Amino acid sequence: MSPVLREAVEHSDVVLTVGSGGVGKTTVAAALALRAAVEGQGSLVCTIDPARRLANSLGLEALGNAELPIAPALFDAAGLKPRATMRAMMLDMKRTWDDLITRYAPADKRDKILANRFYQSLSSALAGSQEYVAMEKLYELRTHRDYPLIVLDTPPTAHALDFLDAPNRLLDFMDNDAAKWLLTPALAAGKFGLKLFNLGGSYVAKTISRFTGTETLQQLADFMLNISGMNEGFKERARQTRALLEADSTSFVLVTGPMPERLDEAIYFHTLLKQNKMKVAAIVVNRVHAPVPVALWEEVARLPTQQQQKLELTLKESDLQARQDARGVAKLREACDGTPLVLVPRFEHDVHDLNGLYELSHWLWGDRLFEV
Ligand SMILES: Nc1ncnc2c1ncn2[C@@H]1O[C@H](COP(=O)(O)OP(=O)(O)OP(=O)(O)O)[C@@H](O)[C@H]1O
Ligand SMILES: [Mg+2]
Repeated sequence: MSPVLREAVEHSDVVLTVGSGGVGKTTVAAALALRAAVEGQGSLVCTIDPARRLANSLGLEALGNAELPIAPALFDAAGLKPRATMRAMMLDMKRTWDDLITRYAPADKRDKILANRFYQSLSSALAGSQEYVAMEKLYELRTHRDYPLIVLDTPPTAHALDFLDAPNRLLDFMDNDAAKWLLTPALAAGKFGLKLFNLGGSYVAKTISRFTGTETLQQLADFMLNISGMNEGFKERARQTRALLEADSTSFVLVTGPMPERLDEAIYFHTLLKQNKMKVAAIVVNRVHAPVPVALWEEVARLPTQQQQKLELTLKESDLQARQDARGVAKLREACDGTPLVLVPRFEHDVHDLNGLYELSHWLWGDRLFEV
């Protein structure tokens, strides 16, 4: 098998790790960025909710949204000599929103928006829409920075393509009839009527429902008036982000586990990515159980009977898992014909430091092959 991921990373300037919850998206993103930097391609990994230990080993104790170079001491400790700089950051949802307003709102409206109670509440609510914030961040990094490689980790997706839809959802809100209606002079005149309750289950409605009284409406009216001119900007960025995701220089890495429920999600996700013209460089099947090596069976067979029986039981269980994983992998290979699979074994320990990430990168990069 050719080193598909290595080649994809070398030829990409944006790589996104996508997949369902807990499969290893953050780990794979960090490992790819690390390996790229070691090989001489400067990288930034933008992580989302990394496990604390991983964040610490990337030198990301507290700062959100800051792109920090990994300290040389951390590389020294891991015995690694990267040929280019690796940076890492943790995406801070609320701060990305504030940065967005700071960057794009007209000067006279900026502070008003940031201080607006409705905005503060709305931005927290929208911060829940992590996918949107991740896409805005990607756009910002791509446009205003000059990293040879950006590896973007994505939030666990309940619905496969939330992050592709996210910009549209925001645009729906901006275009919302109700929002427009709120901007009409009737609002200023104080004739709100009951129409506010017709906003359905939108973010706006949910946010509004947290407020009561006229102060709310005043805050809302102010917010809508101040933000109204930013509509086109949001739309334009959404269009450009979409184009960036479809670009030849962008690669998706779909991460999955070998268990049946994860595989079904991965297959579905793969179909959607393809339908949306996204380039899937490879599907990483992470944490695959390796079959028990013959030598180990033989070793156990030589042990005293009691010990032997106990250990053989463990080995049998392990073998069963390996066979189940192998069936899963075969199913995935058939369903996603044309997209290479990259198998990564299950390690005995969590992957939480540079050593662990580098170790994992051997399979991603194709230095080591794992077939089942
Ligand atoms: N090959 C592996 N072997 C053993 N442990 C692993 C392996 N890959 C990842 N892990 C561990 O699995 C856990 C989950 O990984 P990770 O946080 O990368 O998943 P995620 O997809 O980003 O999760 P979330 O959807 O919650 O963001 C971590 O503790 C990580 O260290
Ligand atoms: Mg994660």
